[in-house]
Formats: sequence, structure tokens, C-alpha cells
Amino acid sequence: MATLFKDVLILDGSRIKAERVHMLVSKGRISQIINVNENPPSADKIISGHGKMAVIPGFVNAHTHAAMVLLRGLGEESPLMEWLQTKIWPVEEKLTPDYIYWGTLSAILEMLSTGTTCFADMYFEMERVGEAVLGAGIRAALSRGITAGEPGKIEKSLQNNLDLAQKFHGREGLITVQIGPHAPYTVPVDKMKLITDAAKSHGLGIHFHFLETEGELKNLGMSPEKYLDETGLNSVPYLTLAHAVYLDPSTDLNPDNVTLIHNPNSNLKLGSGVMNLNAWLERDFPVALGTDGASSNNRLDMWEEMRTTALLHKGINKNPVCVSAQEVLRMSTYEGAKAYGFSQKGMLQEGWVADLILVNLDKPHYIGVNEENLGTYLVYAGSSADVAGTMVNGKWLYKNGEFPTLDKEEILLKSREAREAITK
Ligand code: NI
Repeated sequence: MATLFKDVLILDGSRIKAERVHMLVSKGRISQIINVNENPPSADKIISGHGKMAVIPGFVNAHTHAAMVLLRGLGEESPLMEWLQTKIWPVEEKLTPDYIYWGTLSAILEMLSTGTTCFADMYFEMERVGEAVLGAGIRAALSRGITAGEPGKIEKSLQNNLDLAQKFHGREGLITVQIGPHAPYTVPVDKMKLITDAAKSHGLGIHFHFLETEGELKNLGMSPEKYLDETGLNSVPYLTLAHAVYLDPSTDLNPDNVTLIHNPNSNLKLGSGVMNLNAWLERDFPVALGTDGASSNNRLDMWEEMRTTALLHKGINKNPVCVSAQEVLRMSTYEGAKAYGFSQKGMLQEGWVADLILVNLDKPHYIGVNEENLGTYLVYAGSSADVAGTMVNGKWLYKNGEFPTLDKEEILLKSREAREAITK
């Protein structure tokens, strides 16, 4: 089935300005983009934009813990370690595979309605997360969060992560799997080596929390460069480092296989600090955006991350031209997809995969929008309330407030029950 987006503005992180076009989607891909003055091709379904709709690539939430929507609001306004140790970890003990399944689906509803087409998830019971992802038809990069505990726990979790890869990596073109050691403070160095060796021998990437807080840098026991080298993280097939607030932008890192994940709202809320994004971008280092879990953000809304990112760094650097709208659009789409091994996703180009958002510009806050300024309108004036539809692989997963592949009522009911059970 072919869908024609007739007379729409398209924009992605590679374009300085938007273009007014007809865009045809068929067999899950963008098959044709032609100028609006040419005759539109025929299609089974036609979305008439009348110049008042925009299409942008779907957002890639490059670091989250989806099922933590069930823990939202717990232990508000406390420091990271206290929050984890006294509020989060004890409740997580009560999470069952079923609760994680329903919590993940609840997060997927939230993400689809705000334009996210792919998310990088680090949690546990990831087989159930994989089932939720395939059932919804959304795209995801999955890793099993690995932490130390009783003897043998790390080895068991690692095996569990490798089994996850065996079962889900590449499934239906929707899923990639990474290995997910949680953080330097939850996995000792000798065990990190075990994990990076496994990543290398299985050709898998690693998704890791790194230097979120100042205390973490102090307790590392060596320089970040030495740590990445000694643990073998520097030489795994690819690496995503979430947070990197205290990673110095002069650190010797390879931009061809490392991506930093900026989570500004979570870092602000936990009072962790702010990554030196401007310096990394000046170095042309790849950086993607993520929300982190809903219990530290508290939203799974990439529009919020885009706006915060663009504003925060201008303020800190006292520089209104740094971290442009175009850059944050690229960080929230293409960079995240590339970081997790998804090719031909995150831009609107002929032959690329149709993971996209339909944005309604027929609203008061878009008066004055045109090809030149669409990017800044989206980042500074826009919000997730403007999302009219979210498409993954050429299929609508969210349209006019409905979720064609999901039973919203059942998901909300089961998620409420799970929340009650874990907080009893
Ligand atoms: Ni996180």
C-alpha cells in the first residue's frame, strides 16, 4: 500500500531549510520526493497537507528505561545515589516480567503519541520488552542492564543479554541488541573486561551509563581515558555512553564507534550537572538525545529534550548561535539511529525507511512558519501536542489520537494494577 503526503513541508537534520514537496511512501520506504509544483504520483491513501502539515523523521530516544514509567513520581527531588538506593532499587525488586511488559507498552503509547519511532532501552526481563516492541511494531535497541550482586550475578545477566541478542537481534528489522553493563559504580573493572570481550566476540555494541555525576568521576580510580582503555570499552564494535556529564571534551575517543547520549532534563532534575555539549559539537563528535527513564525526567517526550538542549547551552555559553535547531533535530533523529546500528533511518531521503512524524502546523503558534524557519519553529514553539501521526516502517502506529496496533485501555488498566502492586 502506498501513502502520498501531498503538499507538505519536509525537514530533517541534514537540511538547512524545509522543502515543500509531495512525498510517496510505499513498502515501508520513502519511494519518491518531488517538488510541489510537479504532478503528485497516485497512491492508495492521500494525506493532503495544503502546505499546513510538516513531515519530519521520527525521534530516536537514545537512552531510556521504558518500564520505569511504573516508578514515575517515586522519591522525587533527591540526589541520584539516595534516590536509587532508597526509592528505586527496592521497588524494582518487586517488578515481575508481566509488570515490565505492561509498563513498557505504556511507555510505548507515550512515546508514539509524542513522535518517537525508536527507543534505546536498558532494563531487565528484556525478552518481554522485545515482545512488547514487536507487538507494537515500533523500533528499539535493547540491552539487558547488568549490575553486580551475589556471586555469579554478572555472568548470569551477561548470558541473559547474549540470549536476548540470539533471539531478538535483527528481528523483523525492528530490533538491535546491545550489551548493557549499567555503570562503572555497579560493575567492577575485571567484570567489565568479561563483558567487553563478549561484545567483541559476538559483534555486539555496548550501551553504558558513564560519568553522570561528579562523585562517579572521583570514584573511578583512574582517568576516564584509562578506564575506557583498561576495560576494553574503547575497542568494542560500537559504544553509546549515556550522560557523559563529567567526560572532558578533550578525551581521546573515536567518533567512528562512540556516540554520547545527552539527557539534559534528567541531569537537570537530579542536579547532576550539564554536559559540555558545545565543545563536543565543535569537535564534530556524534551526540544523540535521550530522555532517560520516566522516573528521573519525568517525561518521555523528545520535543522537551530538543527545546531544553537548544536553550540550555545557549544560556551556559552566553552564545545564542551555539547548538542550533538544525543540530538538535539531527541529534534527536539521525544520530540516535546511527548510534544503535540502524541504517537509512533518521532522514527523509528517497530509499530511506519511512519512520516519520506528521506535524500539524495549522495552529496559532505556527503563524509565520515557512521553509526557512520551520526548524526553529519546531524546536522553540512546537511541542508534542502538534504530532498528528507517527509512522514506523511505513505503517501508522499513532494517528488522530488512536493506536492501531495497541489496545490502549488494556495497557492502562494493567499498568495501573502493576503500579499498585509494586508500591503497596
Ligand atoms: Ni539511565
